[in-house]
Amino acid sequence: MSWKIPLFKIYWDEDDVNNVKNEIESGMNWAVGPQVEEFENLIKEEIGTKYAAAFNSGTSALHSLLMAHNITRGDEVIVPSFTFIATANSPLFVGAKPVFADIEEETLGLDPESVNEMISDKTKAILPIHYGGCPCKIRELKEIAEDHDLFLIEDAAEAMGAKIGDKKIGTFGDSAILSFCQNKIITTGEGGAVVTDSQEVYEKLNLSRSHGRLEHANYFTSLEPFDYIELGFNFRMSNLTASLGIAQIKKLNKIIKMRREKSAYLTEKLNKIDGIKPLVPPKDYYHVYQLYSTLADKRDEFMKHMADNGIMTKVYFDPVHLTHFYRNVLKYECKLPVTEEISKKIVTLPMFPDIKKSQIDLIAREIKNFYG
Ligand SMILES: Cc1ncc(COP(=O)(O)O)c(C=O)c1O
Repeated sequence: MSWKIPLFKIYWDEDDVNNVKNEIESGMNWAVGPQVEEFENLIKEEIGTKYAAAFNSGTSALHSLLMAHNITRGDEVIVPSFTFIATANSPLFVGAKPVFADIEEETLGLDPESVNEMISDKTKAILPIHYGGCPCKIRELKEIAEDHDLFLIEDAAEAMGAKIGDKKIGTFGDSAILSFCQNKIITTGEGGAVVTDSQEVYEKLNLSRSHGRLEHANYFTSLEPFDYIELGFNFRMSNLTASLGIAQIKKLNKIIKMRREKSAYLTEKLNKIDGIKPLVPPKDYYHVYQLYSTLADKRDEFMKHMADNGIMTKVYFDPVHLTHFYRNVLKYECKLPVTEEISKKIVTLPMFPDIKKSQIDLIAREIKNFYG
């Protein structure tokens, strides 16, 4: 279906095209090469961590990161159910158990009180997300993690560039992941990264993302032998992909500024309409609006009305604990009242850096038409 207004649009320019074109034309280094390290350097400068490791997705970054924190069989990891399924699945990848905690209604992130209730003697880590680019109550979660000697691992897939005060999301926990999938703040099509200050974690990531290989040179162009010291995956970001990432990350601040301005304009319009409620981030919270989500009365009818008028909306997220896999295969039975209530009302509206004011006006007009 072609939409009058799509949910998202990738923001790209000639620099993206030229960077990829140059790498293609080199006829070499499409897999491994220097652009990966250059992209990683830009990521760690941006977030303000000592290390960044690029991955071929946010999901593979999560998988390797839990391994690097030695999370394994018998351990529990506290996760939200109101998230993309990869967050909850990542403990399963390493044999651990995801334990769902409820969310709070202000940021739609993990509720610190609910997290406290879910801690057991098996808990090894707390794994919150920053929903749609809005920081969660990460300072409160950090206190809990410190009190109970748990790892705090931030799933910042949706929140590159978000901050609380001057402190960037991705620097509150022991380590964090980012995603560069196509609807994220910046994108390489598919892609991800880990950011951390821990050298030990970084070194483990380097092994597990590339077959457990000790990388001392470019594998494809070096005559030197390579040794493999543990079991590993191919979770590497390609050099070709990283060249796109370099062009994208240079636009990060511009993209965030555009998203915030357009979101503020939409919020101003929606505040005048009863029936739909934009989320209001707490003071000092710098929301980057990867998603522009609202709580809507008669949500499903509302979505149909918008679709009939060519405007795409989407539900981010239906709860993970209610999916077939968690309910029927893994036999989860959870009580998460806020998650279930919010997920019945949540709806994400179109938002992208170069959405036109006239398009926002049209969205607001159709919302007004529906709610009267
Ligand atoms: C909160 C969250 N975690 C993890 C992921 C997984 O990232 P990727 O799609 O890059 O594997 C996503 C992406 O959709 C996400 O939104």
